Amino acid sequence: MNIVWLDTIDSTNSEALRRLAELPSMTVLAAREQTAGRGQRGNAWFTEPGRNLTFSIVLKFGEGELLAAQAHWLNYLTSHAVASFLREEGVQPQVKWPNDVYAGRKKICGVLIENTLQGSSVAASVIGVGVNINQTVFPQLANATSLVLCTGKECALEPALERLTALFEKNLPLLFDERRRSGLFEAYASLLFQKGVSARYHDLLTGEEFSGVIEGVEADGRLCIREGSRRRLYRFKEVGYIL
Ligand code: BTN
Repeated sequence: MNIVWLDTIDSTNSEALRRLAELPSMTVLAAREQTAGRGQRGNAWFTEPGRNLTFSIVLKFGEGELLAAQAHWLNYLTSHAVASFLREEGVQPQVKWPNDVYAGRKKICGVLIENTLQGSSVAASVIGVGVNINQTVFPQLANATSLVLCTGKECALEPALERLTALFEKNLPLLFDERRRSGLFEAYASLLFQKGVSARYHDLLTGEEFSGVIEGVEADGRLCIREGSRRRLYRFKEVGYIL
């Protein structure tokens, strides 16, 4: 991967989208400082300058190579790479479906994937990743942690990004290999936060709150939560965790 470090930018995702036509596939834009980092659901992503990883991976696909209906595989790949990196650093991560990475009950990494479609295929994907590395206080976030808070050791950002993106790159071919792809799916499913544990959830379609147990993820990416004899299946943004 070709990693390009930027000193200051509004958001690496925004910059990658602006420069999408000119950036080759497998380019990584990383920022020492983001002034308008973007998170899921239109939220802002705040991080202290120079203390965390904030980067976007640009991928481009040929027609039919990755269908829009398979775009959730990009979540699996990204969560798996971040989780592998954190494990190598001595943290036991879990993935709060679809792609928040947790250490214990606190969020250590967020992912924002923005795809450009052409017909029914993904033409390009900007995979934005924010991993909390050396930050120790999170004034804007009640439920955040970082690598240094988990391990007690500061971590140099540039080599950390090289290790993380190498893990991503190593598994990228799995996306296009149907047989080996199931291994990636199983690895992702084994990381699921609150799997097999009774917990409270919020059905964002009906507004209803309920207690259920996460059973796993369907092949199409939906989260399956059992509530008594009922299996509830949710797409992205259709269910919230009550933590
Ligand atoms: C979330 O809400 O959990 C997603 C956070 C994603 C943050 C990363 S930081 C690098 C990239 N650039 C952005 O503006 N957002 C993503």
